[in-house]
Amino acid sequence: MLNLDKSLFKSFILNMMTGSNIPGFYKLNIEERREFLMKFSDLTPEEISLLRNMGSLGENIADHMIENVISVTEIPIGIAVNFLINDKDYLIPMAIEEPSVVAAASNAAKMARVKGGFRAISSEPIMIGQIEVSGMPDPFGAKFRILEKKKELIEIANEQDPVLVKVGGGAKDIEVRVLDDKEPMIVVHLLVDVRDAMGANAVNTMAEALAPHISNMANGHVRLRILSNLATYRLARAYAIFDREAIGGKEAVDGILEAYKFAKLDPYRATTHNKGIMNGIDAVLLATANDWRAIEAGAHAYASLNGYTSLTKWEKNEDGDLVGSIELPMAVGIVGGATATHPKAKLMRKIMKIESAKEFSNVLAAVGLAQNFAAIRALAMEGIQKGHMELHARNIAISAGAIGSEIDRVAEEMVKEKKIRVDNAQEILKRIRGK
Ligand code: MEV
Repeated sequence: MLNLDKSLFKSFILNMMTGSNIPGFYKLNIEERREFLMKFSDLTPEEISLLRNMGSLGENIADHMIENVISVTEIPIGIAVNFLINDKDYLIPMAIEEPSVVAAASNAAKMARVKGGFRAISSEPIMIGQIEVSGMPDPFGAKFRILEKKKELIEIANEQDPVLVKVGGGAKDIEVRVLDDKEPMIVVHLLVDVRDAMGANAVNTMAEALAPHISNMANGHVRLRILSNLATYRLARAYAIFDREAIGGKEAVDGILEAYKFAKLDPYRATTHNKGIMNGIDAVLLATANDWRAIEAGAHAYASLNGYTSLTKWEKNEDGDLVGSIELPMAVGIVGGATATHPKAKLMRKIMKIESAKEFSNVLAAVGLAQNFAAIRALAMEGIQKGHMELHARNIAISAGAIGSEIDRVAEEMVKEKKIRVDNAQEILKRIRGK
């Protein structure tokens, strides 16, 4: 009877629904959802079989990761080579759709090797949990009363996660900021050492557990209890010296310094400059199934603490070599979340031979610095389009219909003719095929 009800409900959904307001869509299985899409979006059987390709995740894992699953996405993973970070060699997987990013990172890392590669350091993995309180008459008094009970509050927070405490992490400190004293609002920051996790779950659980205690102490009401992605206590830093001759001589050094000055002074440029940094960092985060949105948000907020500016710094040393450094929040984990369940993400970590979240942060900072170096060097010298379009030519060849060995032939011909466009690719393809 129960099964009959269920299947009747499903066939009702599949046959009756014509809009996007679909009650119980989540109750359908993956194949039934595809069937629904077939009807709603006029998909062909061939298109449905594309959706059926579930890669290494498979239906079972994917369907348990998020809601309403119909398929998985595919982005190529390329390996950035040449990275030497703190005297250790790394092969770095990057998942990205943009053609020139992997080659650019590898090339920059090769140039950095001349002077010993990258140095990188990361702070302790301290995350901030925010507990927002308002409605109290005396915000500064509330601040005092909360700080007076700091020890007690830290103990309550740590009771929520004995495992984290056992491995050396846990709540460490409490700060209180008065945001508004007219219509009083204060925020309590709980500082938690999350060890090798990204930390969102541990921090949010602790923040929620502290809420009633803080509300009592403040004599106000607590509303939001959530981790901050502006992880100013969890910073990653990387540094490298780029040999003047290896990168193209004095002109290259001065050109890069000018490009940096532009980014430092102008938020319109700094946004693009920092986007280039995140090209590299996000690609590694995506390959390892990390929350790249959290790192993106933190990076740009950090870049704007004193007016939006460059996340990297570029200088010239006494030998005329270029010195680059980067500093940004890096809340990444190697345990928990999708990083633990996603088979390929685990494999990517194995390829990198990463042993701790701190080591991973170091790698990400070095990749960001390398990516920025490659971009501003290209921009300052030959311009970005040459390398970019040459690599993009293969994509254009594919979109013009080239297959197999035709792809490289069409791409090479377009580069030779300096006409990297779909219409030209179609012309070349016709020639190759003798039409
Ligand atoms: C393109 O994805 C990234 C760049 O625009 C970065 C930059 O301008 O520095 C090339």
